Amino acid sequence: MKVVVEVGMGDGRHLSGLSKDEQDSSTFFIGIENNKTLYIEAARRINADNVLLINDSFENRIRDFENETIDKVIMILPDPKYVDRLYHDDWISVYASIFLKLKKLGTLEIVTEIIDELLQPVSDAAYHAWAKWLVGAFIKVGFGVEEILNEAPANYFSTCLDRFRGDPERIRMMTLRLFKPLTKLESRSSESI
Ligand SMILES: C[S@@+](CC[C@H](N)C(=O)[O-])C[C@H]1O[C@@H](n2cnc3c(N)ncnc32)[C@H](O)[C@@H]1O
Repeated sequence: MKVVVEVGMGDGRHLSGLSKDEQDSSTFFIGIENNKTLYIEAARRINADNVLLINDSFENRIRDFENETIDKVIMILPDPKYVDRLYHDDWISVYASIFLKLKKLGTLEIVTEIIDELLQPVSDAAYHAWAKWLVGAFIKVGFGVEEILNEAPANYFSTCLDRFRGDPERIRMMTLRLFKPLTKLESRSSESI
């Protein structure tokens, strides 16, 4: 069985679509959301045998998984405290835990964004410097890079994505598709990004 976990699924729009698409497969979906109101919204939206929704903080629940049991972790627009440079020292251990729990060749998919502090359009230079730094942070944890998109995947829909897509100059998004290598990768730089 494949196990897919969406962290911070909000009102569950994305997870609802995913679970319908895979209704006949042997994939099991777990959504974790610590906001009770959003969790209740998601529970109303999704009523499927192949989905388990949990109202708790992800950090509490990640420990319950055995190592190397998750095929894919999805995070769509995680809060800044899980991805912002300012909080790097706090969040990096969260991704080290995810790395442990992923099966070999399992993937971590993060859709995230850069917003200018003064709400000005984000320049290409600022965007690329940010992307390079962020990818480098994940490589240091041990992840390999499968794909980097300069946007959210076109077939992804969520409440926050709808909002962010409305302001593409000031909110520039990136999708990181990362994977857990079969063997430990030599520490590489993110020069090629
Ligand atoms: C910016 S919202 C994105 C929501 C949704 N993915 C979307 O795109 O509409 C971030 C979500 O992560 C949830 N969240 C933040 N910290 C969390 C944690 N430690 N564990 C689980 N969910 C968390 C928030 O409650 C919020 O719903």
